[in-house]
Amino acid sequence: MNFDKISERRGTNSTKWDDLERYTGVSAPDGLAMWTADMDFFAPDFLQDAVRRQLEIANYGYFTGMDSYRDAVCWWMENRHGWKIEPEWMSQTAGLGNAIAIVLQSMTNPGDHVATFNPVYHEFEAKIRRAGRVPTQLPLVKVDGLFRMDFDAYDGLMTGREKILLISSPHNPAGRVWTRSELEDIANFCLKHDLILISDEIHHDLVFPGHVHVPAHVAVPQIEDRLIMMSAASKTFNIAGCRTGNVIIPDAKLRAVFNEYLERLDLRPNLFGIALTRSAYSPAGGAWVDELVRYIDGNQKIFNAGMQEIPGVSAMPMEGTYLAWIDFAGTGMDMSEIRQRVTKDARVGPTWGPTLGPGGETCLRINVGTQRSRVVEAVQRLQEAFADLQ
Ligand SMILES: Cc1ncc(COP(=O)(O)O)c(C=O)c1O
Repeated sequence: MNFDKISERRGTNSTKWDDLERYTGVSAPDGLAMWTADMDFFAPDFLQDAVRRQLEIANYGYFTGMDSYRDAVCWWMENRHGWKIEPEWMSQTAGLGNAIAIVLQSMTNPGDHVATFNPVYHEFEAKIRRAGRVPTQLPLVKVDGLFRMDFDAYDGLMTGREKILLISSPHNPAGRVWTRSELEDIANFCLKHDLILISDEIHHDLVFPGHVHVPAHVAVPQIEDRLIMMSAASKTFNIAGCRTGNVIIPDAKLRAVFNEYLERLDLRPNLFGIALTRSAYSPAGGAWVDELVRYIDGNQKIFNAGMQEIPGVSAMPMEGTYLAWIDFAGTGMDMSEIRQRVTKDARVGPTWGPTLGPGGETCLRINVGTQRSRVVEAVQRLQEAFADLQ
């Protein structure tokens, strides 16, 4: 697989590239899109073959075959993550944003609180608010440069109205891969405060050597009656446009609540999302992901080392994902000055840290899921944009 091959996505209705100016403020024609969690690589052959098979049939009508789809998901979870799931635990949604929204609607009431560890993927809070629920922000702390949880402080921040703890595992931004012992602490916190745990594991495959993603159900089976796992092939294989996610709920009662709401919405799986996920969750898919992870690991090392060279800038060590977390606090600059230099001088379009909540005030989230030459170019441009600090 040639991950180095430059893809031109401008003019293809790509959110990342064609909405670059709208979301990041970068208007230059040579702007580098490094914001939303979407990769620039060409799709591997096994995905192209799956699409081609459908093209050859030349028909896009109603479809069956969900048993083989579920088998493929079970195979992937067991082989890649050591997690044996039963096919009936699984339901399909139009992506994981959709899945989170359905859980909020079906398992909480307006005015209920939902806790998150901040900073975090901005859509967590947006979805909680849109649903008329209230976010309870539990700030992550930095210990030895890494995000950690501070449960002693969290007890004091809980209002008693929380019904759910919603986590990103691995964590977006910065790619912390929560350890088994951290997941046990999370489970104990859920028991103590009587919370359902939603473990959004969309980034579960993108974990660097030396770290292991532990599915929540493997780490804390003792809380399976309050556990909802979500995962998808969408980030790993960059097929988010096919809007397909899996919600995995071992507990029959909890699952019935979820599925009843899903039925009410009359949500049905999408032909291409199912076909592509089925072909991704295969030995060929596994081999491709192994290569991809090595490549992204190389990218993040180059990017973060380059950022560390700018005085006052620190890069959080990454354990997984392709979402680097760069803190400019030590430069003494405020976000408007950082924004000016990043968008106008470097022409790099990041996700702005403040949009990810408390803890993101002086930070940028930078997507390194792109060709190496673009990562190198971004490093050079950002170093030049802050060269006066040398
Ligand atoms: C943690 C997390 N959950 C969910 C999503 C969105 O998933 P979907 O596109 O399936 O709605 C993202 C996308 O960046 C994410 O990072």
